[in-house]
Amino acid sequence: MIRKIAILTSGGDAPGMNACLRACIRAGLYQGKEMYVVYDGLRGLVEGDIRQVNKDFTQDIINRGGTIIRSARIPEFKEEAVSKKAADNLRDFEIDALIGIGGDGTFRGLQALSKHGVICIGIPGTIDNDVGSTDETIGFATALNTICDCVDKLKDTSGSHQRCSLIEVMGRHCGDLAMFAALAEGAEGVICVEHPLKKEVLFRKLRKMKAQNKSHAIIIVSENLLDINELAGEIAKETGFDTRTEVLGRLQRGGSPTAHDRILAARFGAKAVELLCDKEPTSRIVGIKQNEIVDYPIDEAVEMKHRHTHGLRDLIDMLQ
Ligand code: F6P
Repeated sequence: MIRKIAILTSGGDAPGMNACLRACIRAGLYQGKEMYVVYDGLRGLVEGDIRQVNKDFTQDIINRGGTIIRSARIPEFKEEAVSKKAADNLRDFEIDALIGIGGDGTFRGLQALSKHGVICIGIPGTIDNDVGSTDETIGFATALNTICDCVDKLKDTSGSHQRCSLIEVMGRHCGDLAMFAALAEGAEGVICVEHPLKKEVLFRKLRKMKAQNKSHAIIIVSENLLDINELAGEIAKETGFDTRTEVLGRLQRGGSPTAHDRILAARFGAKAVELLCDKEPTSRIVGIKQNEIVDYPIDEAVEMKHRHTHGLRDLIDMLQ
């Protein structure tokens, strides 16, 4: 039987991680478990920064952005000796199970720990929404709203100056933030892996807008694809639009989580603890599919590919 559970947050922080931490701790205490947190993600686990917590620890964190137990990236965790050290540290604290809140990289880390005999539960928390075993990750909805707030403001100035604005958003290699933002903003264009740039089509459209005196254009671009400054130069040259670029960057990861993300975090956290209350718990990843909370064996989950919302691309094209 699981008696002691530790929780960590790892990888890029996401709004709602604190709400999820709160849910895990409270659900665990409710089930009579001893609850621990690991500071600084998987790196803290290797360093052994593990502390017991009580309900007071979760006071007033449900609405806080970031992660109060901090996060880190640790590429060395791929090395056998490093993940073994982390597993040994958990054993030294007599901790029976670990809940990790993060993205793909975090889940790979949990998978390595499970090979060392640690029972691990992964909860998807990343703004990128690029995790295969879930339709949605904690933080995605909040980041999307943040992007929309920024684009709304940029539209004001873009319209006043009759400019074309190229706005780069995050997502690592996933276009969900870009595509959902483009749809929510009625953007004139979106460029991402799932909706690649067709320069001639874009230039033609912008030239037509210019000719019809349409005051300004918003183009959402996913990060890690192209140099937006270079593209801005080409747009100006080819279409006559005065063009500016904006990189929203880590602004997108900050802020108080939306109610939607807090509720998703609560559902995921409660499910993680429920799985650890099984008679014979195993390492699993929780997720949400068609609004049902689901869970998969960790080895299966990390191989799943993210499926993009059906019809989103066509909808964007139709409404542009
Ligand atoms: O995974 C979240 C994310 O914000 C990605 O969208 C982005 O590519 C990456 O993290 C940036 O990470 P860092 O803040 O470590 O540079």
